[in-house]
Amino acid sequence: MNDDARPILFFDSGVGGLSVVAPTLELLPAASIVYAADSAAFPYGTKSEAEIAARVPALLGRLAERYRPRLIVIACNTASTIALPAVRAALDVAVVGTVPAIKPAAEASRTRVVGVLGTAATVRQPYVDDLAARFAGDCTVLRYGSATLVELAEAKLAGEAVDADAVARELAGLFDQPDGERIDVIVNACTHFPLLVDELRAAAPAGVTFVDGGPGIARRVASLTQGQAWPGESRGHRLVFTRLGARETRIGDQLRARGFALPETL
Ligand code: DGL
Repeated sequence: MNDDARPILFFDSGVGGLSVVAPTLELLPAASIVYAADSAAFPYGTKSEAEIAARVPALLGRLAERYRPRLIVIACNTASTIALPAVRAALDVAVVGTVPAIKPAAEASRTRVVGVLGTAATVRQPYVDDLAARFAGDCTVLRYGSATLVELAEAKLAGEAVDADAVARELAGLFDQPDGERIDVIVNACTHFPLLVDELRAAAPAGVTFVDGGPGIARRVASLTQGQAWPGESRGHRLVFTRLGARETRIGDQLRARGFALPETL
């Protein structure tokens, strides 16, 4: 038998990381997934750097011990831009992070005005200044941090309707800035936001496009696991919450159709 049951562990504060799981499974349909959401500390985007830095490496250590993953994907821009080096230093398993896709956005922009839509914690990170300077030096990079879009994505995945006006109000946070009307590419710099891409497209002016890191991360995961075996027979994906409340149970119900087992708690 040449099976290898070790999963890939995806980690986020909530359901956002599913926008990274989907393109990964397109490239690696036989992969087994453990999806872990830190629902007890959700949302991350309104927390301080110190809170996130103190929480994420320890939590990932416990998850790695329990699930013995072959690879960890921090499918969260907030956690990655703040805690990725500390996580890598603390664990002896390969860790892939998620950082704002400013490079592909700058490559695609014709107006040279790019929007970065993330959490408040992500858009204020020096890491984002650095990406903008390295890859979008000749662009105006406008940023907006939205906690509302994170909540709307969670509600959508729990089966609730999305308020289109609320989505439009959040996008106005970018377009109403000086030069904002010239934005032609928006970076979805929070993994929750690609889950709302239809609603975002509908609310944005015609011709505006959205990019996110999901497909690039999927290619990176495929390359890091190239040649590795996967379980011969899929046992389904696992779903873990740090707190299992009513919303998490509803999310778990929705995810059963996507091949996830009943939720577990850490
Ligand atoms: N999905 C996360 C990100 O990519 C954060 C959402 C939140 O908890 O605020 O930044």
